[in-house]
Amino acid sequence: MKQQGLLDHRPHGGMADPDFVRAVSTGLRQQPKSIPCRFFYDTAGSRLFDRICDLPEYYPTRTELALLAAHADQFASLIGPGAEVVEFGAGSGDKVRLLLDALDQPAIYRPIDISGEFLLSSAQRLARDYHDLSVRPVIADFTQPIPLPAARPGTRRVGFFPGSTIGNFAPAQATRFLRGAARLLRGGGLLIGVDLVKDREVLRRAYDDAQGVTAAFNRNVLVRANEELGADFDLDRFAHRALFNEAHSRIEMHLVSQVAQIVRIGEQEFSFADGETIHTENSYKYTVGDFRRLAASAGFTPLHVWTDIDRLFSLHWLEA
Ligand code: AVI
Repeated sequence: MKQQGLLDHRPHGGMADPDFVRAVSTGLRQQPKSIPCRFFYDTAGSRLFDRICDLPEYYPTRTELALLAAHADQFASLIGPGAEVVEFGAGSGDKVRLLLDALDQPAIYRPIDISGEFLLSSAQRLARDYHDLSVRPVIADFTQPIPLPAARPGTRRVGFFPGSTIGNFAPAQATRFLRGAARLLRGGGLLIGVDLVKDREVLRRAYDDAQGVTAAFNRNVLVRANEELGADFDLDRFAHRALFNEAHSRIEMHLVSQVAQIVRIGEQEFSFADGETIHTENSYKYTVGDFRRLAASAGFTPLHVWTDIDRLFSLHWLEA
């Protein structure tokens, strides 16, 4: 459906992403206002996210990498030889390399991602470095059912979903994703990274770092709206806020209007009260027990869990 007044306002002409147009237009009309977090990841946003992963306050990436390195031999014996590895989301490659290096002659690697360009470049790098591995990227939205060819006879299909990206799904969405994954991986299993509930200050700082990288990442969605939709968001009039919502066990990120103001996007006007927020992201935090229950309710048999000594982050092996 065409959104009246939102299309054809890009400074350099061309069409804006209709999904982004729709999401901004409907999200800013809702009460409370919201924009889905998947729109963080344009090129600039993906670069900012890479910088977040290196921040001292953002413990998930380095903790998960350490867990992957420390327990690689165990993953290899659980998974067995000649496996097919399906990665949900195309990461930079750092994490899956730790897994592939440990496995006994992995046969096939299928990274699945909606961003074709990013997917193909990271798949190419991997194919260059792993000559005996058949690298078969799949451009698809992995939150939707994905028709993959049946696994080769004698080959175990295993899923890899690191980074606690599952935390960005609402619980119902997480259950739906896990159900689909259990079906896709039947006979194999899923190795998944899940961020844990912890001291709320540690959590808040991970999403509101001293250098302001996460603030820039959050505001980047407004930069995108200005560039791609011709919006006139004044970035200085929206502050980054991260808070831990105890009742929902989630970090929430918001952009808080610093004054009463009207923002224009093409012919549409959106008014903001002083202090009104745009809710831009949820990042759910689980206890080990809660996540295992969720996985079991979606059809997996949760077997092993690995956590760091401070219990910041967890890796789960779920049999499908
Ligand atoms: C991608 N995802 C798991 C990150 C998270 O921690 O929820 C996104 C992020 N948002 C702010 N910092 C990192």
